[in-house]
Amino acid sequence: MLVSLLGILEMVFAGGPEVGGEEDLTRHVNVFQGTTKGGNRFPGVVAAPFAMVKLGPDVMNGRHDAYSGYLPEGRVWGFSMMHESGTGGAPKYGVVSQMPVVGDIANPLLDLSQDRAVPDEAEIGYYKSSLANGVAVELSATQHAGLYRYTFSKTNTSLFGNSSSSNMHSIVVDVSHVLPSFRRFGWEQHYSGGEFEYDATDGHYQGFGTYNNGWNLSPDWNIYFCGRFSKEPESWKIFKGTNSSGETLAEYGSNEKVSGTQRLGGVFTFKERELRSRVGISFLSTEQACENLDREISTETTIEELASTAKSTWNAEVLNKIQVEGATEADTKLLYSSLLGMFLIPSNRTGENAAWDGTEPYYDDVFTLWDTHRCQTSLFHIVNPTAYEEFIRSLIDIWRHDGFMPDARSSNFNGRVQVGSNADNVLADAYVKNVRGAVNWHNGFLAMQTDAEIAPPPNNDPMAPDSSTKEGRGALPDWLKYGYITPAYTRSVSRAIEYSNNDFGLYQMAQGLGYDDDAAKYLNRSRNWRNHWNPRAESNNHTGFMVPRLANGSFVDQDPLSCGGCYWGDAYYEDNPWIYSLNALHDIARLKALSGGDEKFVDRVDKLFDLNIFNAGNEPGFTSPFLYNFVPGMQWKSVERSRREIGRLYSAEPGGLPGNSDGGAMESNIIWQMIGLWPLTGQTTFLILSPWFPRMTIDLGTGKTLTITTTGGDKDTAFYVQSLKVNGEEWNQSWVSWQDVFEDGGKMEYVLGAEPRAWGSEVPPSPASGDG
Ligand SMILES: *[C@@H]1O[C@H](CO)[C@@H](O)[C@H](O)[C@H]1NC(C)=O
Ligand SMILES: *[C@@H]1O[C@H](CO)[C@@H](O)[C@H](O)[C@H]1NC(C)=O
Ligand SMILES: *[C@@H]1O[C@H](CO)[C@@H](O)[C@H](O)[C@H]1NC(C)=O
Ligand SMILES: *[C@@H]1O[C@H](CO)[C@@H](O)[C@H](O)[C@H]1NC(C)=O
Ligand SMILES: *[C@@H]1O[C@H](CO)[C@@H](O)[C@H](O)[C@H]1NC(C)=O
Ligand SMILES: *[C@@H]1O[C@H](CO)[C@@H](O)[C@H](O)[C@H]1NC(C)=O
Ligand SMILES: *[C@@H]1O[C@H](CO)[C@@H](O)[C@H](O)[C@H]1NC(C)=O
Ligand SMILES: *[C@@H]1O[C@H](CO)[C@@H](O)[C@H](O)[C@H]1NC(C)=O
Repeated sequence: MLVSLLGILEMVFAGGPEVGGEEDLTRHVNVFQGTTKGGNRFPGVVAAPFAMVKLGPDVMNGRHDAYSGYLPEGRVWGFSMMHESGTGGAPKYGVVSQMPVVGDIANPLLDLSQDRAVPDEAEIGYYKSSLANGVAVELSATQHAGLYRYTFSKTNTSLFGNSSSSNMHSIVVDVSHVLPSFRRFGWEQHYSGGEFEYDATDGHYQGFGTYNNGWNLSPDWNIYFCGRFSKEPESWKIFKGTNSSGETLAEYGSNEKVSGTQRLGGVFTFKERELRSRVGISFLSTEQACENLDREISTETTIEELASTAKSTWNAEVLNKIQVEGATEADTKLLYSSLLGMFLIPSNRTGENAAWDGTEPYYDDVFTLWDTHRCQTSLFHIVNPTAYEEFIRSLIDIWRHDGFMPDARSSNFNGRVQVGSNADNVLADAYVKNVRGAVNWHNGFLAMQTDAEIAPPPNNDPMAPDSSTKEGRGALPDWLKYGYITPAYTRSVSRAIEYSNNDFGLYQMAQGLGYDDDAAKYLNRSRNWRNHWNPRAESNNHTGFMVPRLANGSFVDQDPLSCGGCYWGDAYYEDNPWIYSLNALHDIARLKALSGGDEKFVDRVDKLFDLNIFNAGNEPGFTSPFLYNFVPGMQWKSVERSRREIGRLYSAEPGGLPGNSDGGAMESNIIWQMIGLWPLTGQTTFLILSPWFPRMTIDLGTGKTLTITTTGGDKDTAFYVQSLKVNGEEWNQSWVSWQDVFEDGGKMEYVLGAEPRAWGSEVPPSPASGDG
């Protein structure tokens, strides 16, 4: 109580431009952060956090997959309404596209792509591409609709050699447009048909496209569209044909409607130099697409108005929630650009769910909880608690209707599960942090229990035919039978450690809900990672690692430095045995004992860096550098790793993420480090690191704030914790709980210095280790 009152007083007295959520922090955002070097982030227009429409360019560059449509180099072949952000695997979406073309068009199935004259420019709510043929394309959007403004420059007759043709400009709407994949894993999307019609009486076109596959191997799904231009076309044609060579163009004329599995769409030709085009989309129907369009973008609406609304929305709902003082511009840009990257996906498709009727919120484009559960979801909760509660309800509602919660989901279809069923950890985290509202937690527990007790039916994924990669826990039969996972299942060791984490989530929920028998059972099961611990496995002066184990109980010889192929068919997925052997985050006291005690444990974490086997861009190791906090007086080493090994890999620039954004997983990682805390998902514990800035204020909603101040610090040279007060009290714990600083707000006052200090004598709890 006192704490939150102090928070309010501070807000009043701090004064300045920050109060009231009015400051325009979008000027510190580089929307191109993480768009190169494998970041794969989407830089186009997302009008509000999690908006359904994500409007941006689609670029072809040889055989490079364009995961978010955008690539800095290459030829633009369309501007489309739906994208993911930051994903790997294979591209998804890139649908409902249009492409401007100078002149008349003999064959719309030919390659219409264009180089860019200059690099694209963008800010929140606004995107601009200047094509080599002199056409400027500017974009803005709303939740369910997009606005294009085309400016055709002075006629360049040398380009076309046909003066009458070059005075005309065409917009091609190609329903078959969808992002391709060149990886040959069978993960490419397919266009499987559609419909297109033009209504000459009021000048709008509408239709739908059907697509399938992609990384989550989804069946056919439809997206409906409705488009209107600011001018009546001089002429229009509807086309249908089989391939881009055009030899088999079946129809090209002014028919009013085409449908089928061939490529199809429309060409609209104008003589005006400036033209606006607005498009609505819907998962439900063309009528709904038109309704979405007309509700959100009128004939008079301008790009500038929409961009301005988008900025206000992002300021109010996300950016102004975290305010800093004393940060350099580079770090301020890193903070706010990263915040943007955290809220691009999932997509809020409430009211747009074609799969079932209902009143619960609906979020799709979960890509993936395997990535985001480690630190993105806990920060999403803090920054945008309203959306977070909706997201949790949506996960449970997906279980109600589809039978399982997703680990990943897009185009209304669960898939793909990389390792564990991490919705369990996410629900547990929300539950222990007192997310209540309209969440039906009994159903939440039943959804988690489905993961824990019912093996999902096989989906015959060629990458891992042993069991389902669609949802749930494919290797559950072994987990239940042996308490470990034999090599009959792929990714067996990684699955075992994550199933332990997942079962710990069930324990947390069961305990909170008073389901005592279940609590005891799942606490037990959360310890089963220990069954993979081979005390004789050896590597670099350390003994004891998690290794594959056969049905007869024997351990398999395994070099702890090697993960085999590290992929779908191997025992370890995307990281090495050293890292996976450190991931019993609910059972660290036991892990330390098995590792040989505090000193050996510290050396074990050191070795990740000495042996150069830590990869800051890979999610399984996200918490590993901070495990020093579990050894009294060693917290300074976590801080050192954070500052020297990880922080320097990030910036607000296009190459500024050390790996795939992965739906904001990478961005939330660095924001937590800037805050100076690290979440342990499914527990109320936050490990204490060292804040980057003299002052940070986090708006926790309903008047509560967490204020974090430092004195004596310098981000690059003086970052070791010398002492800390939490809510005015001297603090020796290397951790705080949710209740200490978030539940009612709080205050953390650090004294920092250039020399390490053996601060943090009291280590965090190890809730599963209480069995001796
Ligand atoms: C016209 O197009 C040609 C061929 O791409 C180019 O070399 C020339 O610079 C263009 N002229 C103008 C005025 O843009
Ligand atoms: C030039 O464009 C006009 C109008 O689109 C077209 O009718 C004509 O065939 C074109 N001429 C040539 C030589 O391409
Ligand atoms: C288009 O189809 C024709 C004949 O059906 C074929 O020869 C040609 O290779 C195809 N072109 C492409 C790009 O698929
Ligand atoms: C999600 O979308 C629905 C429907 O548009 C809207 O009512 C709701 O407020 C959105 N949620 C958030 C957190 O913005
Ligand atoms: C927990 O595991 C122990 C040892 O495996 C077993 O004896 C005990 O019955 C289990 N308890 C529950 C509640 O499953
Ligand atoms: C292992 O320990 C020995 C003896 O303490 C030491 O000489 C050697 O350098 C250590 N090796 C590694 C990789 O730490
Ligand atoms: C288990 O099976 C493996 C492989 O067949 C064999 O090498 C090993 O000796 C067996 N272990 C036991 C305890 O029977
Ligand atoms: C914190 O540690 C210091 C130094 O070790 C000690 O003097 C002090 O009593 C401790 N404070 C608390 C609250 O435990």
